[in-house]
Amino acid sequence: MSNPISIEPPARSTVHASFVVNDETREAAIAPHKTLLEVLREDLLLTGTKHGCELGECGMCTVLIDGQPVLSCLVLAIAATDRAITTVEGLASGPSLSPLQRAFAELGAAQCGYCTPAMLLTAQALLDRTPHPTREDIRDALSGTLCRCTGYLKIFEAVELAADRAGSADA
Ligand code: FES
Ligand code: FES
Repeated sequence: MSNPISIEPPARSTVHASFVVNDETREAAIAPHKTLLEVLREDLLLTGTKHGCELGECGMCTVLIDGQPVLSCLVLAIAATDRAITTVEGLASGPSLSPLQRAFAELGAAQCGYCTPAMLLTAQALLDRTPHPTREDIRDALSGTLCRCTGYLKIFEAVELAADRAGSADA
């Protein structure tokens, strides 16, 4: 009888990578095939970024890269190593919520909590490039972030409230 063939599982290689997340440099040994979403949540323990469809359809995994909303489930983490990444954990300053987060809280726009990080980051990117957006601008900007519960009205109103307050502060 012939000896059984032993099949070794492939070695799991990792690469050392350094990320700039929320203005902080973070190091991790990561599997090169991992997405940015996986590395943020599993290696850097930044679980504010939510895991949805992993197909680029729901928008739940949105983070900002160099200020632009990006679906982190579609980006290889190693492609983001020299970029500035912002997750929802980077919006607040210590215990102080950002003006947009305060507006969401006051108007009850953070409904289920699942899509809220993506809504906040996408809206923040909009306000950064368009400080006085129209309702249409807000609707367009948030159209790729799917809310499955009570709808978008409070979210739109919260973005408008934050923009109005920023406008009054500038005046
Ligand atoms: S998890 Fe759904 S678009 Fe990324
Ligand atoms: S408020 Fe998050 S899915 Fe609707």
